[in-house]
Amino acid sequence: MARFSDVWLSELYNKCDIVDVVSDYVTLAERGGRYWGLCPFHHEKTPSFSVNREKQLYYCFGCKAGGNVANFVMKIENLTFGESVELLARRCGLPMPKLVDDKQYQEIKEKKRQIAEMHKLAARFYHNTLMSAAGADALAYLKRRGVGEETVKRFGLGYAPDSWDSVVSLLTAEGYSEPLIGESGLAAVKNGKAFDAFRNRVMYPIINVFGDVVAFGGRVLDDSTPKYLNTKDTVLFNKRRNLYGIDLLRRQRSVKSAVIVEGYMDVVSMYAHGVKAVVASLGTALTKEQAILLKRYTNDVFISYDGDEAGEIATGKAMDILEAEGFNVRVIRFDEGLDPDDFIRRYGLAGFAKKVKAAPSAIQYRLEMKKREFLLDTEDGREGYAIEAAKIIARLDSPIKRERYAEMVAEQTGFSAASILGQMHKKTANENTSANYRYNRTEKTADNSESAFLACALADIRSFEAVADEIGADEFTTPSHKNIFSALSDCVKRGIQPTDAEILSHLEREDDRNEAVRLMEIMTAAEDPVAYLKDCVKKIRTAKMKGEREALMEALRGASAEQQRSLLARIGEIDKELNRNRFV
Ligand code: CTP
Ligand code: MN
Repeated sequence: MARFSDVWLSELYNKCDIVDVVSDYVTLAERGGRYWGLCPFHHEKTPSFSVNREKQLYYCFGCKAGGNVANFVMKIENLTFGESVELLARRCGLPMPKLVDDKQYQEIKEKKRQIAEMHKLAARFYHNTLMSAAGADALAYLKRRGVGEETVKRFGLGYAPDSWDSVVSLLTAEGYSEPLIGESGLAAVKNGKAFDAFRNRVMYPIINVFGDVVAFGGRVLDDSTPKYLNTKDTVLFNKRRNLYGIDLLRRQRSVKSAVIVEGYMDVVSMYAHGVKAVVASLGTALTKEQAILLKRYTNDVFISYDGDEAGEIATGKAMDILEAEGFNVRVIRFDEGLDPDDFIRRYGLAGFAKKVKAAPSAIQYRLEMKKREFLLDTEDGREGYAIEAAKIIARLDSPIKRERYAEMVAEQTGFSAASILGQMHKKTANENTSANYRYNRTEKTADNSESAFLACALADIRSFEAVADEIGADEFTTPSHKNIFSALSDCVKRGIQPTDAEILSHLEREDDRNEAVRLMEIMTAAEDPVAYLKDCVKKIRTAKMKGEREALMEALRGASAEQQRSLLARIGEIDKELNRNRFV
């Protein structure tokens, strides 16, 4: 994002009218000073998608998606911010700006280009070796595992010969220096000498969304260890930000849903059997960055990890990460010992399709797992499960869904759905001490004042400037509010007074932009904005203190006499502070 200067971007936003651009994709009709149409991002029968020409923003009142013209193009064309800006610049005939003239930036860019080039050469070499006499054993190994030549070609699989200098001498002959070959991860450097990093291994090239080979995973042909070697992180490759298989997924027209697996072999094997939208995290637990990457292509995912305990634990973690990014998550589990590769080879595409059809949603899966911890044929077991289930159900936003699952649990435990729903609002001894509970409490009460503060700040940057120093980003409770505040104060610090559309180019996360546009929509300026903002700051702090006070009160119960003394001391301080605020 930093590639484009604010001045150039504001010129682009001036030239590309959002109504014109959106009209290429959505039929718009003017009504009440706005343009309305059917939202292209969710299914609807009556228009709740609106475009505001004055503010140069779009916002859907149905799915709460919003942004400026570049964000719209990003979303509808599946592009990055940089790519969509380029498309818009071309459309309105604005020349692209000269790239930031930063020496270090240029050097890194050049290094990345060279390392990508080296990987391309290496990938071709490994692949040719696999297809040559030297690769006969490796090719036979793959065949034995059901990977035929077509799949080998599709994934560009290869074989690294059992030699210390095949790739090093290939690259040296092409003019690359040994230190750079070392930096690429294709070789290890010892005592100033470079040696091939991968030897006698089946090679899986890792290809990014631009179609460049950026790293490799290399597997032994037998049971020796380590089973896999992977390229270390380099200037070109960060394993937290890449997914194995993303290149093939990206090239499909429309991806309804994607399957996430654990291993390279699972991706290859599933793809060969006809499951084409399949990716694996790269030997790490699934990361947030990987989830964000996948979100560019689909909203629906199936977690399909190995049928062992490690796979079960990893499923729980991946579920949390994916849900936080707004995915619809479903879970596929295999019998003990089977991974997706084993399963699909044994039961075929049809067998896997059955699994997909029967896959429980994340919430059903969580309930199912929780249920196993209790003995439902005892009174205590049913009660324990009902209480725990209520906590899981409480995480759902939709009252209708809450009721649906409460009814399901009611059937299983014999308690009424009403009391399970009621349980969600009750405090239990466990909850009182959990940090999570405290956070939720504080968040709910603080959220309104935070929204009010930011909405007013967005509507009136000048007034925000006057109070910006009186509150810090860490005083906001939700990540989006923290980020929006930071973006605003960065602009102000740099002496920029951005328009609404411009502020959005400072927000990298889609969630943050949606929230910012929501805030821009709910507020017109207050009568005395500075006083209003100051009042909001006070309310945010008060809410925070009240939240803390409540948590301390809960903690009093069951605390030792000594602990109680220190808790009461803190409560006293808070009360003083709260009283002071009341009279200011
Ligand atoms: N992995 C790794 N290093 C290891 C073991 C595993 O980086 N020593 C990563 C690899 O990305 C691997 C994934 O974790 O693909 C899952 O491991 P596993 O299930 O053991 O690998 P599979 O891909 O299923 O390999 P195979 O079926 O060939 O044994
Ligand atoms: Mn496997």
